[in-house]
Amino acid sequence: MRKPIIAGNWKMNKTAAEAEALINELKPLIAKSKPEVVICVPYTDLWIAKKAIEGSKIKLGAENVAWADSGAFTGEISADMLKEIGVEYVIIGHSERRQYFGETDKTVNMRLKQALAKGLKPIVCVGETLTEREKNKTKKVLKKQVLEGFKDVTDFSNIVIAYEPVWAIGTGKTATAEDANKTIGYIRSLVKKTWGADVAKALRIQYGGSMKPSNAKELMAMRNIDGGLIGGAALKAADFAGIVNYKD
Ligand code: 13P
Repeated sequence: MRKPIIAGNWKMNKTAAEAEALINELKPLIAKSKPEVVICVPYTDLWIAKKAIEGSKIKLGAENVAWADSGAFTGEISADMLKEIGVEYVIIGHSERRQYFGETDKTVNMRLKQALAKGLKPIVCVGETLTEREKNKTKKVLKKQVLEGFKDVTDFSNIVIAYEPVWAIGTGKTATAEDANKTIGYIRSLVKKTWGADVAKALRIQYGGSMKPSNAKELMAMRNIDGGLIGGAALKAADFAGIVNYKD
């Protein structure tokens, strides 16, 4: 049985003071939640978030991590820096990083290996753009992202994959539950082919892209969907809690 995991990706939103207020509002709303709950917040919010989640079920995540241990990498944040704060999860390869900041399958792979080596739990994002989808290239794109992104990785026990069709991110367009389930099933089959049936069976794969309280239940009911990576709806306590508590 794969434990469902709902993670918020705050992206570039919330100052430290706003982060503290949001977490304090969220805590009582998810106190009885069944899924694993993670919030991935901007670096500048990590310290205050760590303090604010104390005594709750919420786990802390960052939105990226450097591939190097330390050194001349202006603007990057190392795994040790994150670990010292108490960060447990880290998003790697989000489509916005790929689109605006030159992230490639190669850099995703480097960051992923560093996260694993340092004991951080990676949430690795994959997904096709609208053009790729319209050209029927979804499978091809996903195959490249998975095979190159996870190259040389052998232990998947701490890894979560987030399937985020780029056309569904922040657009209000959600993949239908059937469609998301089918595509995530394809990702699982890719993992099975390369890393074996046991790895594929145990691996948690989230859906991300305009997930909200009103569609969470339907998506989460799908056999292959083990959770959600939530953008916009993670910025409001009631909405995020509505997704976390999708079963109620
Ligand atoms: P939205 O939920 O705002 O569509 O964003 C999804 C996402 O990119 C999560 O990483």
